[in-house]
Amino acid sequence: MRKLTIFDKLVNEIDQALRTVHTLAPTTARKNPSVDITTEHDLSEDERKLSARLMRINHAGEVSAQGLYRGQALTAKREDIREQMEHSAMEENDHLNWCETRLDELDAHKSYLSPLWYMGSFSIGAVAGLVGDKWSLGFVKETEDQVVKHLDEHIVKISKKDTRSLAILNQMKIDEAHHADIAVEAGAAELPLPVRKFFMPLMSKVMTKTSARI
Ligand SMILES: [Fe+2]
Ligand SMILES: [Fe+2]
Repeated sequence: MRKLTIFDKLVNEIDQALRTVHTLAPTTARKNPSVDITTEHDLSEDERKLSARLMRINHAGEVSAQGLYRGQALTAKREDIREQMEHSAMEENDHLNWCETRLDELDAHKSYLSPLWYMGSFSIGAVAGLVGDKWSLGFVKETEDQVVKHLDEHIVKISKKDTRSLAILNQMKIDEAHHADIAVEAGAAELPLPVRKFFMPLMSKVMTKTSARI
């Protein structure tokens, strides 16, 4: 196979970005955990709106995760790390599709700013990869830890009657914790305190507050 040039890689990444925004990126083809839910309850209008808001935030988070992993995979130095990032990106894309399906069921739209979330996260991921694999993995670990915290909050907030969204969120939580664990096993370094406590929570706040509405 011929070696990919930087131009080939760029075209490939533009293709991936478009696929992500249009929910066509490769997945692991796992079954959506909500399809086996047989006990469904009617949601009140307030409950439906709350679920829609939270699932839109989660969908935007998955678009960002996709961008982050693709950016990191592009600039990762070790081949095994690149492969790990690409596999995690496929699992994030399962999540992305599950969230989008649930948003449709809730008669709600996904964030109109998805291209922005993807591009922003892709840039951050690519820079993290350039800085070095151990920092890039540290970034994954910290991001996934924060995502698990968000998911925990959403699982508490969302109506217990919304069993379909809850099935998706619970499976996502298992996967995100696994992504954090494998990043540590692969040699993640602990990020500097200001990045963990200021920069990353700030980015996450901007995204969650905006995507809840737009
Ligand atoms: Fe995810
Ligand atoms: Fe993840």
